[in-house]
Amino acid sequence: MKKLTLGLSALALSVSAATAQASCDAGEIVAKLSHVTGGTTHPKVVAANKFAERVNAEMNGTLCVEVYPNSTLFGDSKELEALLLGDVQILAPSLSKFGSYTSKYGVFDLPFIFKDMDAAISFTNSDAGQNLLNEMEDVGFVGLGYWMSGMKYFSANKALMEPSDASGLKFRVQSSDVAKAMIGAMGGTPQAMAFAEVYGALQTGVVDGQENTWSNIYTKKFFEVQDSTTETSHQLLAYLFMTSREFLDSMENKDRETFLRIANEVSNEANLAVKAAEATNRQNILDAGGKINTLDAEGRKKWVESMKPVWKQFEDEIGADLIESAANS
Ligand code: LMR
Repeated sequence: MKKLTLGLSALALSVSAATAQASCDAGEIVAKLSHVTGGTTHPKVVAANKFAERVNAEMNGTLCVEVYPNSTLFGDSKELEALLLGDVQILAPSLSKFGSYTSKYGVFDLPFIFKDMDAAISFTNSDAGQNLLNEMEDVGFVGLGYWMSGMKYFSANKALMEPSDASGLKFRVQSSDVAKAMIGAMGGTPQAMAFAEVYGALQTGVVDGQENTWSNIYTKKFFEVQDSTTETSHQLLAYLFMTSREFLDSMENKDRETFLRIANEVSNEANLAVKAAEATNRQNILDAGGKINTLDAEGRKKWVESMKPVWKQFEDEIGADLIESAANS
Protein backbone atom coordinates (compact mmCIF):
# COMPACT_ATOMS: atom_id res chain seq x y z
CA MET A 1 0.00 0.00 0.00
CA LYS A 2 1.22 3.25 -0.29
CA LYS A 3 -0.86 6.04 0.85
CA LEU A 4 -3.66 6.01 3.33
CA THR A 5 -6.68 6.02 1.09
CA LEU A 6 -9.57 7.78 2.68
CA GLY A 7 -12.81 7.78 0.71
CA LEU A 8 -15.69 9.95 1.85
CA SER A 9 -17.30 7.41 4.10
CA ALA A 10 -13.89 6.32 5.36
CA LEU A 11 -13.13 9.96 6.09
CA ALA A 12 -16.21 10.22 8.29
CA LEU A 13 -15.09 7.08 10.07
CA SER A 14 -11.61 8.42 10.55
CA VAL A 15 -13.00 11.48 12.29
CA SER A 16 -15.24 9.52 14.61
CA ALA A 17 -13.09 6.51 15.30
CA ALA A 18 -9.65 7.83 14.41
CA THR A 19 -8.94 4.84 12.30
CA ALA A 20 -6.03 4.97 9.88
CA GLN A 21 -7.33 2.41 7.50
CA ALA A 22 -4.97 1.39 4.79
CA SER A 23 -6.00 -0.15 1.52
CA CYS A 24 -3.55 -2.96 1.10
CA ASP A 25 -2.25 -4.06 -2.27
CA ALA A 26 -2.30 -7.58 -3.62
CA GLY A 27 0.96 -9.28 -2.70
CA GLU A 28 1.39 -7.37 0.56
CA ILE A 29 1.16 -9.24 3.83
CA VAL A 30 -1.70 -7.73 5.82
CA ALA A 31 -1.19 -7.27 9.55
CA LYS A 32 -4.27 -6.35 11.59
CA LEU A 33 -3.63 -4.12 14.58
CA SER A 34 -6.59 -4.30 16.95
CA HIS A 35 -7.17 -2.19 20.07
CA VAL A 36 -9.99 -1.06 22.32
CA THR A 37 -9.59 2.70 22.65
CA GLY A 38 -11.15 5.47 20.60
CA GLY A 39 -11.36 9.17 19.89
CA THR A 40 -8.69 11.21 18.19
CA THR A 41 -6.60 12.41 21.15
CA HIS A 42 -5.98 9.10 22.91
CA PRO A 43 -2.26 8.15 23.16
CA LYS A 44 -2.92 4.59 21.97
CA VAL A 45 -4.99 5.76 19.00
CA VAL A 46 -2.21 8.16 17.98
CA ALA A 47 0.58 5.59 18.43
CA ALA A 48 -1.28 2.80 16.61
CA ASN A 49 -2.08 5.06 13.66
CA LYS A 50 1.49 6.34 13.56
CA PHE A 51 2.85 2.80 13.53
CA ALA A 52 0.55 1.84 10.64
CA GLU A 53 1.44 4.99 8.73
CA ARG A 54 5.17 4.34 9.05
CA VAL A 55 5.04 0.64 8.20
CA ASN A 56 2.80 1.36 5.23
CA ALA A 57 5.21 3.98 3.93
CA GLU A 58 8.52 2.30 4.76
CA MET A 59 7.55 -1.32 4.05
CA ASN A 60 5.42 -0.51 1.04
CA GLY A 61 4.92 -3.56 -1.17
CA THR A 62 5.82 -5.96 1.64
CA LEU A 63 3.71 -5.37 4.70
CA CYS A 64 0.49 -3.42 5.21
CA VAL A 65 -0.95 -2.63 8.65
CA GLU A 66 -4.70 -2.13 9.11
CA VAL A 67 -5.82 -0.52 12.38
CA TYR A 68 -9.07 -1.57 14.08
CA PRO A 69 -9.78 0.70 17.10
CA ASN A 70 -12.67 0.74 19.59
CA SER A 71 -12.95 -3.06 20.04
CA THR A 72 -14.33 -3.23 16.47
CA LEU A 73 -12.31 -6.33 15.61
CA PHE A 74 -11.65 -7.88 19.01
CA GLY A 75 -12.45 -6.71 22.53
CA ASP A 76 -10.58 -7.45 25.75
CA SER A 77 -11.81 -10.96 26.25
CA LYS A 78 -10.84 -12.36 22.86
CA GLU A 79 -7.85 -10.44 21.54
CA LEU A 80 -4.99 -12.39 23.12
CA GLU A 81 -6.47 -15.69 22.05
CA ALA A 82 -7.02 -14.25 18.56
CA LEU A 83 -3.33 -13.31 18.36
CA LEU A 84 -2.33 -16.89 19.11
CA LEU A 85 -4.80 -18.17 16.51
CA GLY A 86 -3.37 -15.78 13.90
CA ASP A 87 -6.68 -13.90 13.49
CA VAL A 88 -4.91 -10.64 14.42
CA GLN A 89 -1.19 -9.88 14.28
CA ILE A 90 -0.58 -6.80 16.46
CA LEU A 91 -2.14 -5.69 19.75
CA ALA A 92 -1.56 -3.17 22.52
CA PRO A 93 -3.48 -4.43 25.57
CA SER A 94 -3.17 -2.94 29.00
CA LEU A 95 -0.50 -4.64 31.13
CA SER A 96 -3.33 -5.39 33.59
CA LYS A 97 -4.91 -7.88 31.20
CA PHE A 98 -2.24 -10.61 31.20
CA GLY A 99 -3.17 -12.31 34.47
CA SER A 100 -3.92 -15.65 32.79
CA TYR A 101 -0.42 -15.72 31.28
CA THR A 102 1.88 -14.21 33.92
CA SER A 103 1.64 -12.91 37.47
CA LYS A 104 4.77 -10.75 37.04
CA TYR A 105 2.87 -7.98 35.27
CA GLY A 106 1.04 -7.44 38.54
CA VAL A 107 4.00 -5.20 39.41
CA PHE A 108 2.66 -2.51 37.07
CA ASP A 109 -0.67 -2.54 38.93
CA LEU A 110 0.62 -2.13 42.46
CA PRO A 111 -0.97 1.04 43.80
CA PHE A 112 1.36 4.05 44.08
CA ILE A 113 4.43 2.06 42.99
CA PHE A 114 5.36 4.72 40.39
CA LYS A 115 5.37 8.28 41.63
CA ASP A 116 4.71 9.49 38.10
CA MET A 117 4.97 8.43 34.48
CA ASP A 118 8.66 9.32 34.27
CA ALA A 119 9.35 6.73 36.98
CA ALA A 120 7.31 4.17 35.04
CA ILE A 121 9.22 4.91 31.83
CA SER A 122 12.51 4.63 33.65
CA PHE A 123 11.46 1.20 35.01
CA THR A 124 10.36 -0.06 31.58
CA ASN A 125 13.72 1.04 30.15
CA SER A 126 15.67 -0.76 32.90
CA ASP A 127 16.97 -4.33 32.52
CA ALA A 128 14.17 -5.61 34.74
CA GLY A 129 11.56 -3.82 32.61
CA GLN A 130 13.10 -4.95 29.31
CA ASN A 131 13.23 -8.57 30.52
CA LEU A 132 9.50 -8.43 31.15
CA LEU A 133 8.94 -7.83 27.44
CA ASN A 134 9.95 -11.45 26.88
CA GLU A 135 8.08 -12.82 29.86
CA MET A 136 5.49 -14.65 27.74
CA GLU A 137 7.75 -15.99 24.96
CA ASP A 138 6.76 -19.54 25.93
CA VAL A 139 3.14 -18.68 25.18
CA GLY A 140 4.10 -17.22 21.80
CA PHE A 141 3.76 -13.52 22.69
CA VAL A 142 6.51 -11.05 21.77
CA GLY A 143 6.66 -7.65 23.45
CA LEU A 144 7.71 -4.97 20.95
CA GLY A 145 7.71 -2.16 23.48
CA TYR A 146 5.75 -0.42 26.21
CA TRP A 147 3.31 2.35 25.45
CA MET A 148 2.47 4.54 28.43
CA SER A 149 -1.13 5.71 28.69
CA GLY A 150 -1.16 7.71 31.91
CA MET A 151 -1.78 7.54 35.63
CA LYS A 152 -5.25 6.43 36.73
CA TYR A 153 -7.90 8.29 38.69
CA PHE A 154 -11.08 7.12 40.41
CA SER A 155 -14.48 8.32 39.32
CA ALA A 156 -17.82 7.41 40.90
CA ASN A 157 -21.44 8.42 41.15
CA LYS A 158 -20.49 10.46 44.21
CA ALA A 159 -17.44 12.55 45.05
CA LEU A 160 -14.58 10.38 46.37
CA MET A 161 -12.54 12.61 48.64
CA GLU A 162 -11.31 9.92 51.03
CA PRO A 163 -10.87 6.18 50.55
CA SER A 164 -13.76 5.61 52.97
CA ASP A 165 -16.07 7.33 50.44
CA ALA A 166 -15.53 4.28 48.24
CA SER A 167 -16.82 1.93 50.91
CA GLY A 168 -19.77 -0.13 49.70
CA LEU A 169 -19.43 1.02 46.09
CA LYS A 170 -18.94 -1.30 43.15
CA PHE A 171 -16.04 -0.44 40.83
CA ARG A 172 -15.33 -1.72 37.36
CA VAL A 173 -11.75 -3.00 37.11
CA GLN A 174 -9.67 -4.60 34.40
CA SER A 175 -9.05 -8.34 34.72
CA SER A 176 -6.29 -7.88 37.30
CA ASP A 177 -6.12 -9.59 40.68
CA VAL A 178 -4.07 -6.69 42.02
CA ALA A 179 -6.75 -4.20 40.98
CA LYS A 180 -9.42 -6.38 42.60
CA ALA A 181 -7.45 -6.53 45.86
CA MET A 182 -6.91 -2.77 45.75
CA ILE A 183 -10.65 -2.08 45.51
CA GLY A 184 -11.22 -4.53 48.35
CA ALA A 185 -8.65 -2.68 50.49
CA MET A 186 -10.71 0.50 49.98
CA GLY A 187 -13.85 -1.27 51.18
CA GLY A 188 -15.38 -1.43 47.70
CA THR A 189 -16.43 -4.35 45.50
CA PRO A 190 -14.49 -4.95 42.28
CA GLN A 191 -16.18 -6.09 39.11
CA ALA A 192 -13.98 -7.11 36.19
CA MET A 193 -15.46 -6.04 32.88
CA ALA A 194 -14.35 -5.47 29.29
CA PHE A 195 -13.53 -1.87 28.42
CA ALA A 196 -16.25 -1.67 25.77
CA GLU A 197 -18.92 -2.31 28.42
CA VAL A 198 -17.85 0.32 30.94
CA TYR A 199 -19.87 3.32 29.74
CA GLY A 200 -23.13 1.34 29.70
CA ALA A 201 -22.41 -0.19 33.10
CA LEU A 202 -21.79 3.23 34.64
CA GLN A 203 -24.86 4.68 32.96
CA THR A 204 -27.22 1.95 34.11
CA GLY A 205 -25.73 1.66 37.59
CA VAL A 206 -24.40 -1.89 37.14
CA VAL A 207 -21.26 -0.39 38.71
CA ASP A 208 -20.90 2.85 40.68
CA GLY A 209 -17.40 3.82 39.64
CA GLN A 210 -14.28 3.04 37.67
CA GLU A 211 -10.60 3.96 37.48
CA ASN A 212 -8.89 5.21 34.36
CA THR A 213 -6.68 7.79 32.68
CA TRP A 214 -7.84 11.24 31.57
CA SER A 215 -7.63 10.06 27.97
CA ASN A 216 -10.01 7.14 28.53
CA ILE A 217 -12.34 9.11 30.78
CA TYR A 218 -12.61 11.80 28.11
CA THR A 219 -12.68 9.78 24.88
CA LYS A 220 -15.15 7.24 26.28
CA LYS A 221 -17.20 10.00 27.96
CA PHE A 222 -17.18 8.29 31.37
CA PHE A 223 -17.27 11.75 32.99
CA GLU A 224 -20.78 12.24 31.59
CA VAL A 225 -22.17 9.37 33.66
CA GLN A 226 -20.20 9.97 36.87
CA ASP A 227 -20.46 12.64 39.57
CA SER A 228 -16.76 13.48 39.40
CA THR A 229 -13.22 12.13 39.13
CA THR A 230 -10.67 12.38 41.93
CA GLU A 231 -7.05 13.04 41.03
CA THR A 232 -5.64 10.05 42.91
CA SER A 233 -2.88 9.01 40.41
CA HIS A 234 -3.02 5.70 42.24
CA GLN A 235 -1.94 3.38 39.44
CA LEU A 236 -0.28 3.30 36.07
CA LEU A 237 -2.03 2.40 32.84
CA ALA A 238 0.41 1.22 30.18
CA TYR A 239 0.26 -1.17 27.25
CA LEU A 240 2.28 -4.02 25.89
CA PHE A 241 2.73 -3.27 22.19
CA MET A 242 2.98 -6.83 20.98
CA THR A 243 2.89 -9.39 18.24
CA SER A 244 3.13 -13.16 18.06
CA ARG A 245 6.32 -15.16 17.64
CA GLU A 246 4.69 -16.87 14.68
CA PHE A 247 4.03 -13.61 12.85
CA LEU A 248 7.48 -12.20 13.57
CA ASP A 249 9.18 -15.40 12.42
CA SER A 250 7.20 -15.40 9.20
CA MET A 251 9.06 -12.26 8.02
CA GLU A 252 12.28 -12.16 6.02
CA ASN A 253 15.22 -11.04 8.20
CA LYS A 254 15.51 -7.59 6.68
CA ASP A 255 11.75 -6.98 6.92
CA ARG A 256 11.78 -8.08 10.54
CA GLU A 257 14.59 -5.62 11.25
CA THR A 258 12.66 -2.76 9.68
CA PHE A 259 9.47 -3.75 11.51
CA LEU A 260 11.27 -3.89 14.88
CA ARG A 261 13.07 -0.59 14.24
CA ILE A 262 9.80 1.19 13.44
CA ALA A 263 8.15 -0.40 16.49
CA ASN A 264 10.96 0.85 18.69
CA GLU A 265 10.96 4.37 17.26
CA VAL A 266 7.17 4.72 17.44
CA SER A 267 7.14 3.45 21.05
CA ASN A 268 9.78 5.99 22.12
CA GLU A 269 7.97 8.79 20.35
CA ALA A 270 4.62 7.79 21.85
CA ASN A 271 6.04 7.83 25.38
CA LEU A 272 7.47 11.30 24.87
CA ALA A 273 4.05 12.60 23.82
CA VAL A 274 1.92 10.94 26.49
CA LYS A 275 2.07 13.58 29.22
CA ALA A 276 0.87 16.28 26.85
CA ALA A 277 -1.97 14.05 25.61
CA GLU A 278 -3.09 13.39 29.16
CA ALA A 279 -2.99 17.10 30.04
CA THR A 280 -5.06 17.90 26.93
CA ASN A 281 -7.68 15.30 27.79
CA ARG A 282 -7.85 16.46 31.41
CA GLN A 283 -8.63 19.93 30.11
CA ASN A 284 -11.09 18.49 27.57
CA ILE A 285 -13.04 16.93 30.46
CA LEU A 286 -13.22 20.26 32.28
CA ASP A 287 -14.20 22.11 29.10
CA ALA A 288 -16.98 19.60 28.50
CA GLY A 289 -18.37 20.20 32.01
CA GLY A 290 -16.78 17.24 33.83
CA LYS A 291 -15.82 17.72 37.46
CA ILE A 292 -12.36 16.92 38.88
CA ASN A 293 -11.62 16.72 42.62
CA THR A 294 -8.03 17.48 43.56
CA LEU A 295 -6.23 16.16 46.66
CA ASP A 296 -3.72 17.92 48.87
CA ALA A 297 -0.70 16.05 50.26
CA GLU A 298 -2.56 15.02 53.42
CA GLY A 299 -5.56 13.80 51.46
CA ARG A 300 -3.41 11.80 49.11
CA LYS A 301 -1.60 10.15 52.02
CA LYS A 302 -4.86 8.57 53.15
CA TRP A 303 -5.29 6.88 49.77
CA VAL A 304 -1.70 5.64 49.87
CA GLU A 305 -2.19 4.22 53.37
CA SER A 306 -5.45 2.47 52.50
CA MET A 307 -3.84 0.54 49.67
CA LYS A 308 -0.55 -0.36 51.37
CA PRO A 309 -1.54 -3.93 52.35
CA VAL A 310 -1.86 -4.85 48.67
CA TRP A 311 1.91 -4.89 48.02
CA LYS A 312 2.53 -7.52 50.71
CA GLN A 313 -0.34 -9.63 49.44
CA PHE A 314 1.27 -10.00 45.98
CA GLU A 315 4.94 -10.04 46.97
CA ASP A 316 5.37 -13.80 46.51
CA GLU A 317 3.78 -14.06 43.10
CA ILE A 318 5.34 -10.92 41.64
CA GLY A 319 8.71 -11.25 43.36
CA ALA A 320 10.20 -8.92 45.99
CA ASP A 321 13.15 -7.99 43.73
CA LEU A 322 10.93 -6.92 40.88
CA ILE A 323 8.76 -4.86 43.23
CA GLU A 324 11.88 -3.20 44.62
CA SER A 325 13.26 -2.29 41.19
CA ALA A 326 9.93 -0.79 40.15
CA ALA A 327 9.51 1.12 43.41
CA ASN A 328 13.04 2.57 43.14
CA SER A 329 12.74 3.70 39.53
C1 LMR B 1 -9.28 -0.37 30.37
O1 LMR B 1 -9.74 -1.50 30.14
O2 LMR B 1 -9.74 0.39 31.21
C2 LMR B 1 -8.07 0.08 29.56
O3 LMR B 1 -7.14 -0.94 29.55
C3 LMR B 1 -8.45 0.42 28.17
C4 LMR B 1 -7.23 0.81 27.38
O4 LMR B 1 -6.79 0.04 26.56
O5 LMR B 1 -6.76 1.95 27.61
